[in-house]
Amino acid sequence: MRIVAIAAVADNGVIGSGEDMLWHIPPDFRRFKQVTTGNTLIFGRRTHEQIGRTLPDRRIIVVTRDPDWSDEGVEVAHSITEALDLAAETPEKVCYIGGGSEIYAAAWPYLTELDITHVHQEPEGAATFPLISQREWTEVSREPHQGYDFTQYRPTFP
Ligand SMILES: NC(=O)c1ccc[n+]([C@@H]2O[C@H](COP(=O)([O-])OP(=O)(O)OC[C@H]3O[C@@H](n4cnc5c(N)ncnc54)[C@H](OP(=O)(O)O)[C@@H]3O)[C@@H](O)[C@H]2O)c1
Repeated sequence: MRIVAIAAVADNGVIGSGEDMLWHIPPDFRRFKQVTTGNTLIFGRRTHEQIGRTLPDRRIIVVTRDPDWSDEGVEVAHSITEALDLAAETPEKVCYIGGGSEIYAAAWPYLTELDITHVHQEPEGAATFPLISQREWTEVSREPHQGYDFTQYRPTFP
């Protein structure tokens, strides 16, 4: 099963400030919707609640340590490995890791690909994406745009 971290990451590694969105890039939203539709998305409980609704036409798995947490239209897992096991029940779907910071870090050892929108800003924010080192990851595509680039990475030593 492909396990792909999908994130919009500022040049300083910041992905969020905890509450408000840091940027508004409609083409990035459209691309996120296009690639994740029909597939599986794993979110941390905080990111799911920040989005505030269940994204349609996708299998959504929310990771929480709270045994009593639930929400309409989503599956619940209590560890990243439990979430990946659930996702593996539909291996034909790509399993996208949709964040946030804690979930990217927890899923890091299991990732087969990165799908990163590099946003050319340096905002302040506590939520960050793990360091993408060239030793670990090789950039295989880059599509430059005004203020952001769509990029994809594969493991350097698969
Ligand atoms: N730029 C982007 O592409 C992007 C994408 C997504 C999110 N974000 C940003 O990221 C920020 C949120 O990230 P975050 O790190 O604060 O929160 P998060 O990763 O979305 O969610 C954290 C929550 O997930 C659960 N969790 C984390 N690790 C777990 C584990 N190993 N086992 C079981 N449950 C686990 C816990 O839920 P409980 O507390 O319920 O136990 C924890 O509080 C926001 O600022 C958001 O805007 C940015």
